[in-house]
Amino acid sequence: MIKTVFNELIIGYPSSKKITLQIEEPIPCLLTDSVMIKQVITNIISNSLKFTSNKDDAKITAGYYYENDENIFYIKDNGVGFDMKFSENLFKMFHRMHSVDEFEGSGIGLALVKKIIMKLGGRVWITGEVGKGVCVYFTLKNDNILK
Ligand SMILES: Nc1ncnc2c1ncn2[C@@H]1O[C@H](COP(=O)(O)OP(=O)(O)OP(=O)(O)O)[C@@H](O)[C@H]1O
Ligand SMILES: [Mg+2]
Repeated sequence: MIKTVFNELIIGYPSSKKITLQIEEPIPCLLTDSVMIKQVITNIISNSLKFTSNKDDAKITAGYYYENDENIFYIKDNGVGFDMKFSENLFKMFHRMHSVDEFEGSGIGLALVKKIIMKLGGRVWITGEVGKGVCVYFTLKNDNILK
């Protein structure tokens, strides 16, 4: 699904631009609402594409690990990033760290990600560094992982 969403979203980007998706295998299969999860992945990857748009060599990496009894999924990029000092509101509606002149958007994508992940009983957080990129993490319950 990550590859499908990526391939759908890069339609329209100039083919001269280098954008790579790297999947750090293995990522487990999920037993959960696929429409909701697709929305989560779409919102995160569309941010990664948007905020790497002025990079010549954009890179998006997705992976999974199990730590402290949690299934943690992550999607990271090497885009413009942001200052962590001001990041606590990013999952609230209409909160943005970049102006519309720089990057278009209304600040809805991550709020919806949080709503969906909370509904599924997981948690979500984001880390970023100016000029280096961002990593979005979310967790899902063991019941949602196909073992
Ligand atoms: N990958 C990223 N790199 C840099 N900043 C990000 C990234 N993802 C999110 N942000 C910051 O978090 C803000 C909120 O993200 P969110 O997806 O909710 O809104 P948006 O992308 O601005 O608008 P919308 O999703 O409604 O089109 C962004 O405006 C940006 O400042
Ligand atoms: Mg967005």
